[in-house]
Amino acid sequence: MTASANPSPAVIRVTELKKQYKVGAETIHALDGVTLDIRAREYVAIMGASGSGKSTLMNILGCLDRPSSGMYELDGQAVSTLSAAAMARVRNQRIGFVFQSFELLPRFSALKNVELPLIYSDVPWRSRRKMAREAVDRVSLTDRARHRPNQLSGGQRQRVAIARALVCRPTILLADEPTGNLDTVTSAEILRLFSQLHEQGQTIVIVTHEPDVAAHANRIIRMRDGKVLSDLPVEQDNAVASHREAALRVQKGAP
Ligand SMILES: Nc1ncnc2c1ncn2[C@@H]1O[C@H](COP(=O)(O)OP(=O)(O)OP(=O)(O)O)[C@@H](O)[C@H]1O
Ligand SMILES: [Mg+2]
Repeated sequence: MTASANPSPAVIRVTELKKQYKVGAETIHALDGVTLDIRAREYVAIMGASGSGKSTLMNILGCLDRPSSGMYELDGQAVSTLSAAAMARVRNQRIGFVFQSFELLPRFSALKNVELPLIYSDVPWRSRRKMAREAVDRVSLTDRARHRPNQLSGGQRQRVAIARALVCRPTILLADEPTGNLDTVTSAEILRLFSQLHEQGQTIVIVTHEPDVAAHANRIIRMRDGKVLSDLPVEQDNAVASHREAALRVQKGAP
């Protein structure tokens, strides 16, 4: 479907991804055989009920975690079998991750927070400052660069986190409920920013509970019980969703 309509190469390819957690005597199948491709310049939204495996999938895609089995290739390179150090390099240089809770360092200025991934990447000092400033400009926070996180609003903090995610010019930008801690107006601003970044060519995967958020994407992947329930271009997903709602109304005997 989306894959054949989009001739760009796959930046992410996962095959039969599984992740199990053992809790006492119980085994939880957080991911139960996920197979999908994400192509360059796609804007993908992942949806699904709480506990359906969205964050587990994102953490594996972001090289923050490893699958129990299955294959993950990023730009054609198998990453889930890399050493911890090599995986950290991939995470640092090719992945931008945005969290619901921002995860900024409180004692550092916005600019310094954005610069941190470059320090870990051994980018020379002069280039670091320049790249961090550019990333701060891209998220329209130029006049707040010297502020510490507690001197910024929630939306501004998330902008700093997005600038930090972009500063290494990642292959893919991953965001797990990036508007989950923000009010409606601020969420809309952050989503506008994601749309702009997408228009500039950034590949994006975003996890969200909110249909409004997902409507900004091109493609919607719905998960249930650790599996992909559907994977459709946004227009088709909307049509299926409204059909499903109509069927539910009929079941309940509503008009
Ligand atoms: N570290 C862990 N140890 C044990 N079980 C876990 C762990 N992390 C996640 N799980 C379980 O795996 C399943 C998937 O969790 P996950 O966090 O991926 O869901 P989610 O779709 O992101 O949910 P939410 O929308 O609430 O964020 C859940 O049943 C969860 O309880
Ligand atoms: Mg989650």
